Amino acid sequence: MMTLIRGGTVINADRAFRADVLCEGDKIMAVGENLDAPAGATIVDAGGQYVMPGGIDTHTHMQLPFMGTVTADDFFTGTAAGLAGGTTTIMDFVIPNPQQSLLEAFNTWRGWAEKSAGDYTFHVAVTWWDQSVHEEMGVLVRDHGVNSFKHFMAYKNAIMADDETLVKSFRRSLELGAIPTVHAENGELVYQLQQELLAKGIRGVEAHPLSRPPEVEAEAANRAIAIANVLGTPVYIVHVSCAESLEAITRARAKGQRVYGEALAGHLVIDDSVYRHPDPEFARAHVMSPPFRSSHHQQALWQGLRGGNLHTTATDHCTFCAEQKAAGKDDFTRIPNGCGGVEERMAVVWDAGVNTGLLTPSEFVKVTSTNAAQIFNIYPRKGVIQVGADADIVVWDPEGTRTISAATQHSKGGFNVFEGRTVRGIPTHTIAAGKLVFERGELRAEPGAGRHIERPAFTATVA
Ligand code: URP
Ligand code: ZN
Ligand code: ZN
Ligand code: ZN
Repeated sequence: MMTLIRGGTVINADRAFRADVLCEGDKIMAVGENLDAPAGATIVDAGGQYVMPGGIDTHTHMQLPFMGTVTADDFFTGTAAGLAGGTTTIMDFVIPNPQQSLLEAFNTWRGWAEKSAGDYTFHVAVTWWDQSVHEEMGVLVRDHGVNSFKHFMAYKNAIMADDETLVKSFRRSLELGAIPTVHAENGELVYQLQQELLAKGIRGVEAHPLSRPPEVEAEAANRAIAIANVLGTPVYIVHVSCAESLEAITRARAKGQRVYGEALAGHLVIDDSVYRHPDPEFARAHVMSPPFRSSHHQQALWQGLRGGNLHTTATDHCTFCAEQKAAGKDDFTRIPNGCGGVEERMAVVWDAGVNTGLLTPSEFVKVTSTNAAQIFNIYPRKGVIQVGADADIVVWDPEGTRTISAATQHSKGGFNVFEGRTVRGIPTHTIAAGKLVFERGELRAEPGAGRHIERPAFTATVA
């Protein structure tokens, strides 16, 4: 199977240049001007368009059992939605229950993910600690291509990692050449604020952001960074949503600490007014943690991305339908946390980032693909258009427009947090592992076509 992408401008993180791209099998075989079309090759006309590495969404939750229910998108519908938006690889999370074997949970998630239409790889959450966790982390790194472990500093009485778990798991990660990652929110503070709000009779969705102010996030970000500093480990902070967390990252980096930050497409463009919407169903659909914040924080996140203190863009794609969200209609602490975005991330970041001049096209590639591949050690297999890389490519029409709507999305859940937003800059073609899976609005996602991507451990010198 051969595909020739002809006449476009290749955008890599380091430069842009006119070139045709030839894919054979699942790899890029040639990049250069005026390549001859081999007999039988499919030709993609990329005239006037950009040819970029397929997006890597560093943070999704497909088919996640969470807060008493399971997300609406499974690994097939979720990865298919990603392909329609130019995202060819997702990084999802194995989340063992406290006391559950990490390997058992990993195998369960591997089974669920077999129907994926696009490539996937897993961060594994460390939600509790004992010697078996220490050992299984080693097995996951050595035998299963896991090089990142996730720690939820929130969700008390569920999956929250206490400081003992953080310290021991960070130390073990360093020993193994894996990178620790954190959901930074002080879970005790969230819990106490939730209880106080409920006791005052403030039970509606408007209480959600009140229980999770920026300081709650900043405390945890600072704590994770301090622990990483003492132990000499790198640390990656997922879904940085506020100026205060970004300041913690910026300060640590200025002192030479290896700290990485991830921004979500939603946090970049949606503000906290959604929680005061007159329709509580609409407001509940926006409940995620950390919550959407005021425009002051959005501006800070864009500056973080441009200035190099935030490195990746993701979605935290975690969809629940209105009936699922309604579980918390009389108690905001029971609203399943999560929103979608895997299909929209690339276009939203392009439209709000590149069209406004905040990001160059190469910076866009960096924060949607290359940095993720480098931080999680799958570069240059992914994250770049060059000979030998995986043929994961998005052909991007900078003049094409689309109005985002739940009515036309591929993702399940029946809601879109970007509803009504008209974006300029859209994918016209997505090539995943060498196959043309999306062509001008037509999605040809195939269950099982996605592959589990193993990520090798870092060398001991990483910290
Ligand atoms: O609200 C969110 N973000 N739901 C998914 C789980 C998580 O915290 O990432
Ligand atoms: Zn989280
Ligand atoms: Zn998440
Ligand atoms: Zn439903």
